[in-house]
Amino acid sequence: MRRNTRLRLVGALAAALVTAGLATGPGAQASPGAQASPRQPTLAELAQRHGRYFGSATDNPELTDTAYTALLGDEFDMITPGNGMKWYATEPQQDVFDWRYGDQIVDLARSNHQRVRAHTLVWHSQLPDWLTGRTWTADELRAVLKKHIQTEVRHYRGKVYSWDVVNEAFNEDGSYRETLWYQTLGPGYIADALRWAHQADPHAKLYLNDYNIEAVGAKSDAYYRLAKDLKARHVPLDGIGLQAHLALQYGYPASLEDNLRRFSRLGLDTALTEVDVRMLLPATEEKLAQQADWYRDLTAACLAVRRCVGITVWDYTDKYSWIPAFFPGEGAALPWDEQLRPKPAYFAIRKALGGR
Ligand code: XIL
Repeated sequence: MRRNTRLRLVGALAAALVTAGLATGPGAQASPGAQASPRQPTLAELAQRHGRYFGSATDNPELTDTAYTALLGDEFDMITPGNGMKWYATEPQQDVFDWRYGDQIVDLARSNHQRVRAHTLVWHSQLPDWLTGRTWTADELRAVLKKHIQTEVRHYRGKVYSWDVVNEAFNEDGSYRETLWYQTLGPGYIADALRWAHQADPHAKLYLNDYNIEAVGAKSDAYYRLAKDLKARHVPLDGIGLQAHLALQYGYPASLEDNLRRFSRLGLDTALTEVDVRMLLPATEEKLAQQADWYRDLTAACLAVRRCVGITVWDYTDKYSWIPAFFPGEGAALPWDEQLRPKPAYFAIRKALGGR
């Protein structure tokens, strides 16, 4: 076929599809016997029917990819900056704040009518050298932490739904992780951080966030005890974020729903905040089917617990997943593949949310 003939045919096909789409759009009169189906509701719309959100993380470098940003803007109603609000990005030199990365994502979310889960204020990782390259007295470090939290939270005041105030505070056995913060300030840094964040934005929901706390176990027990203690002392804590970086080879956290429920009973919100389900590569049809079952089950678990407020995937496409770089030999962890095509996991989530 000659090139311009083929182009004409493609053009005619596209026009026919557009016509079909318009003919069945909202408010249009479908002609009798018309077969084309109306636009599918998005994950966000489906989640909203249950009073939940469905979110995605994103990161600044990938925002130049217009096919990517189109889906990001359409399918989700909550956005988390994957890196742009971390300490190394926001205070690269002491007292020199840089809001460009975070602002770019907040502005994009706002233009798409999406809310923002802000991430993260106090963590042991991705800290600037000026902070980790010297020793601090407790008084010095407390002042540094307070200033960082209050400056950043004030900057985003009124623009974000929630903050992951402290990230990854515990070890697997439920003991406190020996971070700069813990070693210098003791366990009280967590309550201090929550109080300082609350002063700076009284409306933001304040979370503690961690991985490997999806199931009931030593690490989630540590959060349960801490959350109970903080609530008893009227420290402003609103929720627990379960990152849910799952891996097929380690098994599904079967007690997820019970675990969410026990936090709800403490009067706390919960959220699945960084979901991905990685696998040993290569991905096979069988592994992708199992992955879909896990996405279905974790979605159903959140819907089953009233105060599980929503689910965020740690980016939505394998094209921009952090997994291959951090877990060599693993990947294919997200509901869309590297070509932005929906995978079985995507259809499983839709179905679990009550879609078709
Ligand atoms: C990851 C980002 O996705 C990567 O781009 C970055 O290089 C490292 O951090 N738990 C968290 C997230 O709370 O902040 C991490 O994000 C993934 C694990």
